[in-house]
Amino acid sequence: MTLIETARAVRENAYAPYSKFKVGAAIKATSGAVYAGCNVENVAYPEGTCAEAGAIAAMIAAGDTRIAEIAVIADSPKPISCCGGCRQKIAEFADGDVVVTLTTVDGVTAQTTVADLLPGSFDADYMSRV
Ligand code: THU
Repeated sequence: MTLIETARAVRENAYAPYSKFKVGAAIKATSGAVYAGCNVENVAYPEGTCAEAGAIAAMIAAGDTRIAEIAVIADSPKPISCCGGCRQKIAEFADGDVVVTLTTVDGVTAQTTVADLLPGSFDADYMSRV
């Protein structure tokens, strides 16, 4: 299964009764293992979590810590854009040149990198005086 196919499959399990907008994400870790996540909403809206966060949580729970590649899919008119919070979450575990594949369920696909998604990112260097 390709990373996009994994993201497409897990998207079916998304719990999105409020927005009705299902998202799937799949991460290939540097170990080669693949982790999937979907958005999980909550009646207390801010408690909902994004698909990317779910895939990252699965990766960390399994003992991997570095992202080699990530794919995200949704039923959008153009390839989904990761939200700002997810860009920061992805950047925690990925080098800037890691490829991010963004796609629609119709197969319209765009590719970018972690660095392009989050230019000027806050990282641990800013805390070097602590
Ligand atoms: N969503 C994601 O899962 N990932 C993103 O990068 C953008 C938004 C989810 C959150 C919410 O459940 C729904 O899409 C609508 O915002």
